[in-house]
Amino acid sequence: MTVRKRIGVLISGRGSNMSALINACKEPDYPAEIVTVISNRPEAPGLENAALAGIPGEVIDHTSYSSREAFEKDLDKALNEAEVELICNAGFMRLLTQGFVEAWRDRHLNIHPSLLPAFKGLHTHERAIEAGVTISGCTVHFVRTQMDAGPIVAQAAVPVLAGDTADQLAARVLEAEHRLYPLALKLVASGNARVEGERVIHRAFHSAGNTLFAPEPG
Ligand code: GRF
Repeated sequence: MTVRKRIGVLISGRGSNMSALINACKEPDYPAEIVTVISNRPEAPGLENAALAGIPGEVIDHTSYSSREAFEKDLDKALNEAEVELICNAGFMRLLTQGFVEAWRDRHLNIHPSLLPAFKGLHTHERAIEAGVTISGCTVHFVRTQMDAGPIVAQAAVPVLAGDTADQLAARVLEAEHRLYPLALKLVASGNARVEGERVIHRAFHSAGNTLFAPEPG
């Protein structure tokens, strides 16, 4: 029988990456299950999709706290109460303090829509187009206190096509994200990818963390 790691997903909005993880967890031999979805925004559309999938959702609204630490204390409590073993940020738009990050060190993943370490932060696609890169993509990495930094689990590349708008590139990258995050979580949850020093070592397959996705025809 597959031993499943208990996953807590953190969202702030649409939650399409969360939905991709929910779908992956339906596979009978997938090594993870989502036990809670927590949003820092009450209006996050992703909460409804979590509920439709039968996953308990919770709102911990950061605006009702006077400090980051107070917000994170309740977040940590909720994750522990749900017996979460591994956190997946999925469009979670909140910087976390060192205390929280260290408490979940090497048990906390994030997805970012660029090939890190390039284009950290916001407006990645605009900046990628502006810089004239011909390949962009996405990265799943372990969370550290610096924004969009930390040991890289897996990356996927997509082409930047002539005349792309930021929205067109974002859509192509997002499609790659939906394939990459389930793969990366599978690698980590199964113990086939783990942090050694400040790099991720892949036990089973050396190239499993590197994926080139071609755009869909048409
Ligand atoms: C994704 O592009 C993710 O990489 C970034 O924010 C976006 C969230 O999208 N961190 P969704 O909420 O998963 O649909």
